[in-house]
Amino acid sequence: MIEVQVAARRDEALDICSYELTSIDGQPLPPFAAGAHIDVHLPDGLIRQYSLCNHPEERHRYLIGVLKDPSSRGGSRSLHEQIQPGTRLLISEPRNLFALAPQARRSLLFAGGIGITPILCMAEHLAQSGAAFALHYCARSRERAAFVERLQQSPYADRVFLHFDEQPATALDAARVLASPCDDLHLYVCGPGGFMQHVLDTAKAQGWQEPNLHREYFAAAPTDTTADGSFSVKLARSGLVFEVPADRSVVQVLESHGVEVPISCEQGVCGTCLTRVLEGVPEHRDMFLTEAEQALNDQFTPCCSRSRTPLLVLDL
Ligand code: FES
Repeated sequence: MIEVQVAARRDEALDICSYELTSIDGQPLPPFAAGAHIDVHLPDGLIRQYSLCNHPEERHRYLIGVLKDPSSRGGSRSLHEQIQPGTRLLISEPRNLFALAPQARRSLLFAGGIGITPILCMAEHLAQSGAAFALHYCARSRERAAFVERLQQSPYADRVFLHFDEQPATALDAARVLASPCDDLHLYVCGPGGFMQHVLDTAKAQGWQEPNLHREYFAAAPTDTTADGSFSVKLARSGLVFEVPADRSVVQVLESHGVEVPISCEQGVCGTCLTRVLEGVPEHRDMFLTEAEQALNDQFTPCCSRSRTPLLVLDL
């Protein structure tokens, strides 16, 4: 955990602020690569994840962009209302689940709304390394699009394409942009679920292959829960066994029996609830573990993940 202070807060667009975080003692912050995010521990006890959107070579600050989401369960509202320059915050070291593929020779970047934050960082890195790329940025309106000036004044402004819902003539023609998949062309998308689904579905329809598609969700992708059944969890230390019915999560069942598992996002994004699995095979529904980590089946996120086997034995 690192303690930082808010050095600056800036309005970037309607309902979007950026926060510049610097170290307390002036020492360089841990390095990060494009696509990385940090956990921010908020004053009300919540932990939220925010992508870093400054240039990845900078060590003197982290920059995050935060949308004041009307459906916020507290995180973004808390930042917008309580966090001012001078506020001290605890953050995690950067973690990257949305890294640029080193083998890509060309990249197509798609950002929807506040999804611009990791994409902006990627564009800065690609531009500096001389790589070929184009950035498509979709937003409801110009006033809701953050960092537009920074993009338009950047050395790569000619590779930035803005698409605003309020200007139908600028609409993104995803089928045209994605018409020519090839091995060394990689796609990166971040934004609201519907936007990401549209870009990814269009890419697949145009023949793109899964290894060339990279995405980062702000929330776990919607899951079809209609076929969910019940299963049991056993706590290895006490030997207690509890039934998890189809309509409740493991965390909810454990909590109702007085077993506390630390939680934050409750949707498989943050990893706060990560729990070791000693026996059984989890059905992973999180966006936190990488595919390789999930395939080991030795840990899972009990806030949202379930079980493929009748019993899971947990290291609790
Ligand atoms: Fe965030 Fe479970 S509480 S992944």
